[in-house]
Amino acid sequence: MTEPLLRVRDLRVTFPARHGRGTVPAVDGVSFDIAAGQTLGLVGESGSGKTTTGRAILQLQPASGSVQLLGQELVGMPRRALRAMRRHMQFVLQNPYSSLHPRMTVARILAEPLALHRTVPRAHIAERVAELMTLVGLDPAMASRYPHAFSGGQRQRIVIARALAVHPDFVVCDEPVSALDVRTQTQIVDLLQSLQQRLGLSYLFIAHDLAIVREVAHHVAVMHGGRIVEINATAPLYATPTHPYTRTLLNAVPIPDPARQRARLAEQDDERASTK
Ligand SMILES: Nc1ncnc2c1ncn2[C@@H]1O[C@H](COP(=O)(O)OP(=O)(O)O)[C@@H](O)[C@H]1O
Ligand SMILES: [Mg+2]
Repeated sequence: MTEPLLRVRDLRVTFPARHGRGTVPAVDGVSFDIAAGQTLGLVGESGSGKTTTGRAILQLQPASGSVQLLGQELVGMPRRALRAMRRHMQFVLQNPYSSLHPRMTVARILAEPLALHRTVPRAHIAERVAELMTLVGLDPAMASRYPHAFSGGQRQRIVIARALAVHPDFVVCDEPVSALDVRTQTQIVDLLQSLQQRLGLSYLFIAHDLAIVREVAHHVAVMHGGRIVEINATAPLYATPTHPYTRTLLNAVPIPDPARQRARLAEQDDERASTK
């Protein structure tokens, strides 16, 4: 059997309780694998621990348990070694307005990770910046502009280009399209998917929008109270959810799939009929 790209076992994060003493588990024994080139969707209501899970995997948040990326254990890894591993794991956050420095040009924003990880010789940085802009569908002629000159969707393209600058293998996308209008959401989702196919990227795709997750994820994990209550390949998870919480989540939002919606309405009619 081949090793998964990312292997997470019994991941735990606790925060001090806000009121009173003790600690609250935000991530409570989470385990999963992500294969190379695959997407794991992570869904669950607000406060269920999705963001904390992503941050803990990237070692931006102290955690216990095991996180192996490319066969290397990240939990407890010495700083220097971890810094070198950061090249392989990047993140794309929800808000493209706050995650780009307003006083840096796009060229500088994209050059920063290249200089930090020394992946490109200085003389080739401008060339790589242009290549990255083209990769995400932006005109390289706009490299000297500042973030405010770009729309929300374009800014999220810059955020994605920055994440991809150092050729990562794994990207945590935390609600990457939640702040965008529906049309722009589709464009950014399409971009993330085509980049995955072209570059063989693995994603942890965190979202509360179940319709988007269904479209992008190969597998889906459902999180509730810091735990994964159900994890399965995408099609069976949506078609035959086994955990009551998954069913509640799926029933709480309209899934834009006409066949499924008809089936759900018929099911509800049946339930009403049987309780009469
Ligand atoms: N820095 C922090 N300090 C204390 N509690 C936190 C912190 N970050 C998150 N939490 C708590 O951890 C839980 C999970 O939060 P989070 O991972 O942000 O959930 P989600 O992304 O699913 O909305 C929540 O109860 C939240 O209040
Ligand atoms: Mg979150």
